[in-house]
Amino acid sequence: MKLDTIVKGGTITTASESYIGDIGIANGKIVALGRDLQSDNGANVIDAKGKQVLPGAIDVHVHLQLPFCGTVSADDFESGTRAAARGGVTTVIDFAIQDVDKGLMAGIEKRMAEADPKVAVDYSLHSIIIKWSDKIEKEMKKVVDSGIPSFKMFMIYEKEGWQSDDAALFSALSESANTGATICVHAESERVMNVLIKRYLQQKVGAYGHVLSRPNFIEEEAIQRAIKWTEVTGGRLYIVHMSTGEGADQVKIGQSKGIHVHAETCPQYLVLNDEVFKDKKFGHLWATCPQIKKAKDNQRLWRGLVDGEVRVVSTDTCTFTKTQKAMWNGDFTKIPFGMPGVETLLPSVYTAGFKEGLFSLNHLVKLVCTNPAKIMGLYPHKGTIALGSDADVIIIDPKKSKVIDYKELDTNCDWSPFQNWKMFGFPDVTLSRGKVVVDKGKFVGKKGHGKFIKRRPQMPLE
Ligand code: URP
Ligand code: ZN
Ligand code: ZN
Repeated sequence: MKLDTIVKGGTITTASESYIGDIGIANGKIVALGRDLQSDNGANVIDAKGKQVLPGAIDVHVHLQLPFCGTVSADDFESGTRAAARGGVTTVIDFAIQDVDKGLMAGIEKRMAEADPKVAVDYSLHSIIIKWSDKIEKEMKKVVDSGIPSFKMFMIYEKEGWQSDDAALFSALSESANTGATICVHAESERVMNVLIKRYLQQKVGAYGHVLSRPNFIEEEAIQRAIKWTEVTGGRLYIVHMSTGEGADQVKIGQSKGIHVHAETCPQYLVLNDEVFKDKKFGHLWATCPQIKKAKDNQRLWRGLVDGEVRVVSTDTCTFTKTQKAMWNGDFTKIPFGMPGVETLLPSVYTAGFKEGLFSLNHLVKLVCTNPAKIMGLYPHKGTIALGSDADVIIIDPKKSKVIDYKELDTNCDWSPFQNWKMFGFPDVTLSRGKVVVDKGKFVGKKGHGKFIKRRPQMPLE
């Protein structure tokens, strides 16, 4: 057999099984799985004995070089995908905002032109709808047919001109019932939130105002409403960056009624809580949208990941440096919202979920590889280790840990929400379509190696 690479003797771990074996790779694909694989053309042999061999993780929610909050997020498609590879993420899904004059496809073409020359791992895009019309409704099918079967709609960001009202949401969900597309929704009730923002701005409460103005019912009510529109339209809903226990309750109720709703959460909502905002000097750095909630929400979201109503962990990576964050100048409504995350996605869930004994390594693979691949229509090319899949493979030494220091990470950020945290689960080796892009824990890939990956409408999870 002719092979380019053999990953030898590791514990191959998918969402459903673990076994010791070899992976044979040719032309970027997994072409052989077994014991004692040999190549008759001098393959590159990577020794994985004693190591865990997983599919590359998929971060379905990143915002690289996003113009937002009066600045542009600091990780571009190059540094962001380098950081992804370093953390074992081999596919990212970013966003392409609708061109208000020319439509959805025009926005997608513009974003691809920005990404293509820079990406170091594979990527896709969600199409963001910001201005609903009959024309956009018709264009949705064309977008799905072009390999982008997911749309993002915001229930907030009115002043940015991004908000979708109930009519738009209802109409897009109705259309998703026809095409099988997924409507990804940022669910927060903005009108009520604005009342609270006004109230707390007058009280000079610093960065903690971000917490006070977004109590849990702000997310809960919006999720409940989005689920109602999904129920009556028969559409497909995906709640992004879910941050509250009440949100998880609503999703669970919806799923129990047979409504087509999935939800993701992010590490910041699992391992951080509102105490971070109390630091007078640096609390504002942690401002992200929705904001980090309380310890009880952490617990409820972990339970949702274990029990199954919360199905994906993504990051909502939207990096801003200390200088960019300083733009807030004491006004919590002006903090550029977001934080780095793609590089620490897998290690944070590995450390706080798997190592803590909350779930198995197979379940971890389900949450960060297989479920994202199935829900976002990348499976079985991505998200698993199987014959015919892309050779997106990571090798982890289960004994190795590292103490997070932003200076040592590949992100452009000059701080880390996890500074000084000890984390396991950083890969020694990352393979992207058979190419070694991380070796001995260091990035050795190239910008432009990554490709735009066409996706199909989502498939069942089991
Ligand atoms: O704070 C965040 N998450 N910034 C990115 C925009 C969004 O709402 O996802
Ligand atoms: Zn959002
Ligand atoms: Zn986001």
